[in-house]
Amino acid sequence: MYRLILLVLIPAVLGCLNADTNSCASFIKSQSATASPFCATFTQSTVTATTGLPAWATNCSQRPSLISKECSCYYTGTGSGGTEPTGTVPTGVTTTLPASSGVVTSSAPITVTASFDGGMKRYDRSTTVCEEQTETGEDDTIFILEDGATLSNVIIGPNQAEGVHCRGTCTLNNVWWSDVCEDALTLKQSSGTSYINGGGAFHAADKIIQFNGFGTVQVTGFYAQDYGKVVRSCGNCSGNGGARHIILTNLVQ
Ligand SMILES: *[C@@H]1O[C@H](CO)[C@@H](O)[C@H](O)[C@H]1NC(C)=O
Ligand SMILES: *[C@@H]1O[C@H](CO)[C@@H](O)[C@H](O)[C@H]1NC(C)=O
Repeated sequence: MYRLILLVLIPAVLGCLNADTNSCASFIKSQSATASPFCATFTQSTVTATTGLPAWATNCSQRPSLISKECSCYYTGTGSGGTEPTGTVPTGVTTTLPASSGVVTSSAPITVTASFDGGMKRYDRSTTVCEEQTETGEDDTIFILEDGATLSNVIIGPNQAEGVHCRGTCTLNNVWWSDVCEDALTLKQSSGTSYINGGGAFHAADKIIQFNGFGTVQVTGFYAQDYGKVVRSCGNCSGNGGARHIILTNLVQ
């Protein structure tokens, strides 16, 4: 059975609020008979309307994003102590690594300034630079995407360390990682939205997406198998403090 997260809209800098001091967290945590079934439904689609919310939403300032986030802390997704929704795989999400149409090895990262379509070939470094969880840098990627670049139809092999780095906003279409090393994708945009459409990642000892910049990353129809976390928000990046929004839709794990 696949676990399916249908919606998570998280201001990732905030994390879960303190249930001892925040009325929204307190209600959702303590009133499980009311909150649990509500949360299970509420997180199944994107909710932005502030009408039609239950009376107790006053405890959450009528904010759907806050309700969604606190729900995910206690009842759904990767929050603690909850059960995760199960379901069938949504149309358009692929749950197996696509066959590669060939292999390309490179001794250095490949920089993409506009767009690059890999034709479903497997791209990898010619001499392995993967040192598992040792944090390295751009030099140990296989693709570096300049601001606004698009990378499509690529399988990334196991011999790189840092997968793809986006220097600004970027779009990834149908990009796969067969065996994530340190992480799969690092986002360094200062603002704006990056899009990850389709694709998937396997065997990430820790995280798949590392969000070091600010703005929004929108992940749609992505498959993750055998990993620590799908997205990690940087905790100690220099200049930390701006908002990071992470929107996961039809993420299958
Ligand atoms: C707000 O939360 C408190 C404490 O959990 C609860 O007693 C109260 O009923 C909630 N407000 C509404 C309008 O439901
Ligand atoms: C952030 O923490 C990691 C892991 O402890 C460390 O390797 C890295 O150097 C730190 N970065 C900064 C900017 O402090």
